[in-house]
Amino acid sequence: MQTASITLKTTEHHHVLTISPPVDLALTGAIAIPGDKSISHRALMLGALAEGTTEIRGLLLGEDPLSTAACFRAMGANISDLNTERVTVEGIGLGQLQEPADVLNAGNSGTTMRLMLGILASHAGRFFTVTGDGSLRSRPMSRVIRPLQDMGAQIWSRAGGLAPLAVQGQALRPIHYTSLIASAQVKSCILLAGLATEGKTTVSEPALSRDHSERMLRAFGAEVLVDPDTCSATVVGPARLIGQPVVVPGDISSAAFWLVAGAIAPGSDLLIQNVGVNPTRTGILDALAQMEADVTLENAREVAGEPVADLRVRGHNRLKAGHIGGDLIPRLIDEIPILAVAAAFAEGTTVISDAAELRVKESDRLAVMATQLSRLGATVTERPDGLEITGGKPLHGAEVDSHTDHRIAMSLAIAALRATGPTTIHRAEAAAVSYPGFVDTLRQVVR
Ligand code: S3P
Repeated sequence: MQTASITLKTTEHHHVLTISPPVDLALTGAIAIPGDKSISHRALMLGALAEGTTEIRGLLLGEDPLSTAACFRAMGANISDLNTERVTVEGIGLGQLQEPADVLNAGNSGTTMRLMLGILASHAGRFFTVTGDGSLRSRPMSRVIRPLQDMGAQIWSRAGGLAPLAVQGQALRPIHYTSLIASAQVKSCILLAGLATEGKTTVSEPALSRDHSERMLRAFGAEVLVDPDTCSATVVGPARLIGQPVVVPGDISSAAFWLVAGAIAPGSDLLIQNVGVNPTRTGILDALAQMEADVTLENAREVAGEPVADLRVRGHNRLKAGHIGGDLIPRLIDEIPILAVAAAFAEGTTVISDAAELRVKESDRLAVMATQLSRLGATVTERPDGLEITGGKPLHGAEVDSHTDHRIAMSLAIAALRATGPTTIHRAEAAAVSYPGFVDTLRQVVR
């Protein structure tokens, strides 16, 4: 068996990743993946709001959590060196963040901006300004600004609810907010605003989104009530948070790239260790099972309030098309780009629907995946709320572009592993937003 050639060229601003796979590529070995991005953000934020010390193990050192750490340091939280196995956050107590002397920069991170907004809006007497990179400044913030304004928040934005934003913190009033979208960012923003607010603040959503905030808030001592029948979560304020040890499991959204890589490369046998398998995040496992991929869970356990397992994937070339829509979407919202790659290797037509939210992620992921996968020779039709992908036709190498979106960069790299000839991925540095060691692990598994 020949090995793949993987080269990374660094220009002044961008990385160009070129992948030339052998025809019989198989992925083998055991790999660890970086910490969960959602849990990492929340551990830093709740640690900063808590009294006492929060010790975080397994924190993701991606650019997004680094943005969160920088924002909370600027507001007085004492966060230790992030490049160590154990990161500590000395909290300053709920409502005690200092007014930052400069603009807070959330970088590329929607989670940082939206969750932080609930915290800032409820910090009475303080003034904050918040911005982000070009992608984040084009993403809708009205979905969190409006419910916060219902609570009495004072927030100013550019036209259309775009950042930069300005916030004059207030004592807020509790609300029961019924969200039209299943969004953990919206839910978490309002619950965080409710922490400092006297009374019960409730969010209901049309389908259950990831529940890491609810779990971690409880672990830190807040009173949180959940009603699974109505997909509602309530926080009782004012809360008091006490610093806790947090163990961050591996991110299933990062594991997803290797699950699909293994599933589409016959002869692969890959073990992905220590993956968070919270049921609000495992839609990717359900979708891959539907497509008849061979994925098994081993060594299932619970670590610090979150379910964890090792995932084993074995490759074959008989994947079947699937239907991905409805309540499954919030459970695999970040995995749709890589599922589109799986679909390009599956027999039949995969339909992805109810996924219009993808148009307002780090890029318009429906449009970008449709154009980039088509360049590789896949048969893809864009729908207003999804994609239609007819698989089974061999892909060929081509020049593609991440559009600065981390998940697009990595999805295209996995597609390239099973394309004929070299594929060049422009702006591949985007991967570091959620997966700084992606190219190293790629080299490890294709050896
Ligand atoms: C996240 C929630 C999701 C997801 C994002 C992280 C979170 O966004 O896409 O990567 O940590 O709460 P929405 O809740 O807006 O869908």
